[in-house]
Amino acid sequence: MGRAHDIRIAPSLLSADFGNLAEAVGEVATATSWLHVDVMDAHFVPNLTIGPPVVASLRRHSGAFFDCHLMMTDPGRYLEAFRDAGASSVTVHAEVGGTGELLAAARRLGLGAGLALNPDTPFSAAAPFLAELDLLLLMTVFPGFGGQEFMASVLPKIAEARAAIDAAGLEVALEVDGGISPTTIGEVARAGARVFVAGSAVFGHERPWQAVEELRAAAGAAIRRPSPA
Ligand code: DX5
Ligand code: ZN
Repeated sequence: MGRAHDIRIAPSLLSADFGNLAEAVGEVATATSWLHVDVMDAHFVPNLTIGPPVVASLRRHSGAFFDCHLMMTDPGRYLEAFRDAGASSVTVHAEVGGTGELLAAARRLGLGAGLALNPDTPFSAAAPFLAELDLLLLMTVFPGFGGQEFMASVLPKIAEARAAIDAAGLEVALEVDGGISPTTIGEVARAGARVFVAGSAVFGHERPWQAVEELRAAAGAAIRRPSPA
């Protein structure tokens, strides 16, 4: 997964043209090695998107790290299918329960193990599992749709997670998802996130690769200079 403190932009395919997904993957391939795949089951969230067959097809076009965000009520039934399709990591939601078993199952399958928290789920829901995580995903919108407004109210939770990860000396990648743009990415980076999912900011841009570069530069600039008083 790379080093946990590297800045990574993970373009979300949710905002790409679903009729041209391979092309979308190619558009960002030179700019980042991560791709965020939003899997929705029309039950945990009121939307239906991508499943293992699409991941398998995209894998034939890409050697990227496929960061699969499973917005599903019963992700355990599909972990093996995602592994077989070529997923790199799977991130399950704490709200669905069974977290310890799901993370262990992901690891047994050789997948990176991620845990996601909705905006209103406290960090304490993830704290007991920190040592078992490759990735912690903090949602800055309620999951279900791209193009929503960034929720600044989640910033203290990002800082809380960063402090806990560092205090424990862990290498958990701290990822944020929802409303990330060149305007919002700076404060998220300063709060301690290092992996940034961006859908509309990347695929709504005329040149998606350039949007990735701009986001990375904005995040880098924000953490290299002290925040204004
Ligand atoms: C929301 C998804 C996000 C979404 C982000 O349910 O998990 O990954 O695609 O899209 P933007 O960047 O447009 O908020
Ligand atoms: Zn997502």
